[in-house]
Amino acid sequence: MKTLLVGYRAQDLFEKGRRGKLQPSPIVDGDVTCHALDIYHRHAIEKALHVKAICSAHLPGGPWDVIRFKTGPKLMSGELALDMLQEISRLTGGDLKSPRFHLDFDGKERDRNALLEKVLDDPTRIRDFSATWCASVPGAEPIELTSYPGCFCHRRADDGGLALAEVVSRELNAWEARPAPLKFLDMGCGCGLVGFLVASAVKGVELVMVDSHSRAIEAANVNAKKLGIPVEAILADNGTPARMDGTFDVFAGNPPYYSDYRIAEVFLETALRALKPGGLCYTVVKNDAGLKPVQERYFPSVEVIRRRGYCVLKSIKPV
Ligand SMILES: C[S@@+](CC[C@H](N)C(=O)[O-])C[C@H]1O[C@@H](n2cnc3c(N)ncnc32)[C@H](O)[C@@H]1O
Repeated sequence: MKTLLVGYRAQDLFEKGRRGKLQPSPIVDGDVTCHALDIYHRHAIEKALHVKAICSAHLPGGPWDVIRFKTGPKLMSGELALDMLQEISRLTGGDLKSPRFHLDFDGKERDRNALLEKVLDDPTRIRDFSATWCASVPGAEPIELTSYPGCFCHRRADDGGLALAEVVSRELNAWEARPAPLKFLDMGCGCGLVGFLVASAVKGVELVMVDSHSRAIEAANVNAKKLGIPVEAILADNGTPARMDGTFDVFAGNPPYYSDYRIAEVFLETALRALKPGGLCYTVVKNDAGLKPVQERYFPSVEVIRRRGYCVLKSIKPV
């Protein structure tokens, strides 16, 4: 019996046993594969349990005897839930009512039914959840970017990312002794907003992008092809230590801040490893009070540049 678990995090795969001790849940019994969109979640599952875990932008083909899908308004956007459910519907031959499919919905019954109805109404209808939108920095032509549900930012440019791209483009264009080509690392690239905007405004930029989310990497590759801007897009959650080898001229990152700066620290460690001596590190945050002391632990000084209501934090790797 081959089972595919979709949307489960490591902590969802345990339950309380006798005396409140955590033990593996029965849903991981047998031939189970866990799917994760983010490689961080794949690694967390593999660390917690001996089950197969894969990270990919789309669900693996199967065939599967059972598919279990965990979702709910606090776990993912409605659009991502619908997109995943549509993929599951395809894998089950449109039969979401069969006992082979289990929806583990963390939320109200009426929201659960509304989600199911959207796909059950017409299982043959394939909705395209991708979005294509424009972004630009001053002095350069607008570029078109495509994004997918689950990928940051979907359907619109993030103001923090725009502030970062604007400051970095302006500074690099003003840098008279700028290396050519200029090796540029966009960490936490999402669909590639920052890197592609900088490459659209500054000549001779050689782009490497890293993100832990499979759909971000898919979007970055699609956008690179559409824009005709070559990029090496890497799926990783640990900054890819071997690849970050002290050869980059510039690092830019718009890290997520939901983890009390833990992820921002992964970004800064990567910046320090990736940059050449004299290389430039730029991060962005709404309010610099929290991130500035963290960045000062990695770099000797931090300059704060304000833009669009955000703070871009600039540091130089010591020579
Ligand atoms: C705030 S978004 C920024 C996206 C894009 N650069 C922008 O400005 O619109 C942060 C990105 O970091 C990615 N991320 C989170 N943890 C990561 C990690 N450990 N390594 C690489 N990327 C990570 C997320 O998947 C997300 O795409």
